[in-house]
Formats: sequence, structure tokens, C-alpha cells
Amino acid sequence: MTIAVTASQPGQLAAASALAAELGLPLLDQVADARALLALTPERLELAATGPDAPGAIAVDFTAGALRHRRRGGHNEPLGRAVGVGKWQDISVVDATAGLGRDSFVLADLGCQVTLLEREPVVFALLRDGIERGQRSEDPWVAEVCQRMTLVRADAREWLAGAAVDVVYLDPMFPARRKSARVKKDMWLFQQLLEPADVFGGLLEAALAAAGKRVVVKRPAKAPALGERAPAFQLPGKTVRFDVYLPEAGI
Ligand SMILES: C[S@@+](CC[C@H](N)C(=O)[O-])C[C@H]1O[C@@H](n2cnc3c(N)ncnc32)[C@H](O)[C@@H]1O
Repeated sequence: MTIAVTASQPGQLAAASALAAELGLPLLDQVADARALLALTPERLELAATGPDAPGAIAVDFTAGALRHRRRGGHNEPLGRAVGVGKWQDISVVDATAGLGRDSFVLADLGCQVTLLEREPVVFALLRDGIERGQRSEDPWVAEVCQRMTLVRADAREWLAGAAVDVVYLDPMFPARRKSARVKKDMWLFQQLLEPADVFGGLLEAALAAAGKRVVVKRPAKAPALGERAPAFQLPGKTVRFDVYLPEAGI
């Protein structure tokens, strides 16, 4: 058994360091005020949160049951219709705010080639681990869907500048309203890691400049549209809706 020494308060770090040296054990330093540990387990990479309001470990797992329920023709059909599945063949979609990749997975399951952009390093690492595991999955459905997903670590505003793509999909962060523990965990993660003020500035404009066919924005059902320009049309759902912008109509 490997035991590491750590301190639960920054003030105890020197004492912990001395104890580790005395006992010949490794020291986990700088952990005292960490809110979460990014842990490599034999199966996967996971973010294990510490502290009183911490949820359980967060990882990206495309083999989990929840995504199976979101399969073709299920309640995500509006997402497929919003990006134009059925209207065009072989659509390529840039998911410019990839997060934990669930919407991307649904789009890839609908047959789209999906480029996922994620700028937050920890979210990127969790997502990369999930996609790589998905591509190696023994479940042929999961493996095939994940083969259609390509992840890039980038700020979408920079990546989209000068790019020419079919469809850009945007899902800005918004407060959790749904009850499932899974959503709460994800929202907890995003709230810890992301700067709300900087989440979305300039992204709609960059998407409209790069997209040839459509820009789709996921919004809470009753929230106002993003930015000043009105969407060309909206596809409503129970808790969320998709605002569709047609770039060729001009900004
Ligand atoms: C609400 S989450 C998206 C959830 C995702 N649709 C899903 O199904 O898991 C928003 C994500 O967009 C990322 N993000 C925000 N602005 C970005 C930007 N300019 N470039 C790249 N990623 C960005 C955030 O780091 C965050 O992970």
C-alpha cells in the first residue's frame, strides 16, 4: 500500500513535509487548499472533488446508460433537426463549447462528423479521456459514434476566425434547473472552473462568420435569445430550445 502525507490546512504543510521526510513517504503538497483532485484511476481519468458541497467523481463515460436513452428519434431529435440532419447529407458540425461532450455524442450518433472545441484544460482532459475510451470500447455502437468525434483544445473564437465550416453549435453555460444528479455534478464542475463573465462574449459573432449553413444555440426554454440578432427560427423543447441562425441571411 502506498501512503502519501498531506495536510488539510495550508498552515500544516511544513509539518506534513517534515513528517513525510521522517517517515520516507511521498508528500502531496499544494493539496491543502485544492478543491478537487484530477485522478488517474486504472479505468479512467476523473475529477474527484473535495470539500463539503462536493459531488461524486466526475468523468466522461459514453457507455453510461443515460446516453443510450438519448438515441435516435428520442427527445433529442430537435437537436438533429436544428443542425439540419435529414436536410443535408454528411453534415460536419463544430461543437464550439464541447463541455463533457454529450450533445456532441448525440450529434455524432445522428451521423454528423463532429469537431469538438474545448478551451478549459481540465474539461478538455476529461473529454479526451472519455472519447479515447469510447473509441476503444467493446460496444461497437459507442466505438463507431466516438470515431466521428475529433477533439481540439482551443478557444473557439480563435479557432473559428478564418475557418469555413457547415454548422456551428453553441451551448453556453446556464444555471442548472433540471433535477438529475448528473446535471448538478456537471454544473458544479462548470461553476468551479469557468468564469461566468467570460463564457460567451464574441462567440456568436465568430460562429456566424465561420458557418456556411447554420449556427445553432441551445437556450433554456424561456430565456431570451443570445446577442442582438433574432434567430431565423426556434425549435422548442420542454426545458431547452434551439435557436437557429442562417448565416447567409447576413448579420
Ligand atoms: C455548458 S458547457 C457545454 C456542455 C455540452 N454541450 C455537453 O453536452 O456536455 C460549456 C463549455 O463550453 C466551454 N467554452 C466556453 N467558451 C468557450 C470558448 N470560447 N472556446 C471553447 N470552449 C468554450 C466551457 O469551458 C464549457 O466546458
